Amino acid sequence: MAILITGISELVTCDETLEGADQADRLGILHDAAVVVGAEFEDAPTTVQWVGAAADAPAADWSFDLGGQAVLPGFVDSHSHLVYAGDRSAEFAARMTGQPYDGGGIAVTMAATREASDPELRALLTARVDEMRSQGTTTVEIKSGYGLTLEEEVRALRLASEVTEETTFLGGHVVPPEFREDRGSYVDLVAGEMLQAAAPYARWIDVFCEPNSPHAFDGEEARRILLAGREAGLELRVHGNQLGHGPGVQLAVELGAASVDHCTYLSDADIDALAGSETVATLLPGVEFSTHSPYPDGRRLIDAGVEVAIATDCNPGTCNSSSMPLMIALAVREMGMTPAEAVRAATVVAARSLRRSDVGVVRVGARADLAVLSAPSYLHLPYRVGVPIAKTLQV
Ligand code: NIG
Ligand code: FE
Repeated sequence: MAILITGISELVTCDETLEGADQADRLGILHDAAVVVGAEFEDAPTTVQWVGAAADAPAADWSFDLGGQAVLPGFVDSHSHLVYAGDRSAEFAARMTGQPYDGGGIAVTMAATREASDPELRALLTARVDEMRSQGTTTVEIKSGYGLTLEEEVRALRLASEVTEETTFLGGHVVPPEFREDRGSYVDLVAGEMLQAAAPYARWIDVFCEPNSPHAFDGEEARRILLAGREAGLELRVHGNQLGHGPGVQLAVELGAASVDHCTYLSDADIDALAGSETVATLLPGVEFSTHSPYPDGRRLIDAGVEVAIATDCNPGTCNSSSMPLMIALAVREMGMTPAEAVRAATVVAARSLRRSDVGVVRVGARADLAVLSAPSYLHLPYRVGVPIAKTLQV
């Protein structure tokens, strides 16, 4: 069954090879466009079958007219922590009056998460995923990391794998309180039995590499965890350079991680290492907003040739926002990125950070994951900041 979508005032494809498209900002834009989507057979994923000018559109089984709205690839939120219980709004309020963030609050969420039943945790998780989808996000990566025992990390990943293929084992989030006097044993557990139990439910492994936090992991601990993860068949991502300068970025590049996330504090050597590497720098501007920290310099990274993605990092501590449009607005207002760069960062480059080429782009054969704006142009995403103009297009 093929469905023809017309009335698209501006179609942002993010396909740099699309002939006839405006490629000035690498967005592959078509005006007065149409898209045909459909599934090859029953139960097959719905994919894009045709993209072009509305005047050339082929016939289809069904059609609907968007009446002059902009369409773009659904957002790819490549970094989130959605499997948790509890509330840390008081911690947020304290930060707004000057309290610094050091990762200590993760143990508060850990305690609440361990207390929650499977149905409670599943309900919280699915509500958060629905909240993302209602704002135009169509792919989401979800990490464990608030269980921090073998059983609890497996439980988090099992629940996450019910709602996404992009699941990440983050047993290396912080050292839990019961191991505070014996960090080495916790690293052994994460890189050993916990990893073996978690691996069947995870695509990725991540670690909070942050010597500037007493709770997180230093470069050597992080290296051990990542190498063990790779040995177990997982692909690598890293939380790096969030709270200060440190080894996270260099480690991620050296090990060929798909992404290093945060990148708030970067040296020239870090930027040189990222440029030309296979590692995407994923910036999380909602974290700087919610921790009252300086924003990373997205402009400097892009000018140096680094691939820059943006994501929400949606979590109870450092950014409790699921809004990719807000991240686009912050990237433009606070990180020196153009609206076009921010949209690419939230779609096609974020997809690259997940090593995916079937999402984050509107191209024949890609998934029919589309966002629609109640606005004529993608420029309205940062322009109409805080207004819920983006939705997932239900086809
Ligand atoms: O990505 N930095 C480490 N982890 C999360 C925050 C987790 C929390 O504070 O609950 C982050 O910012
Ligand atoms: Fe995170």
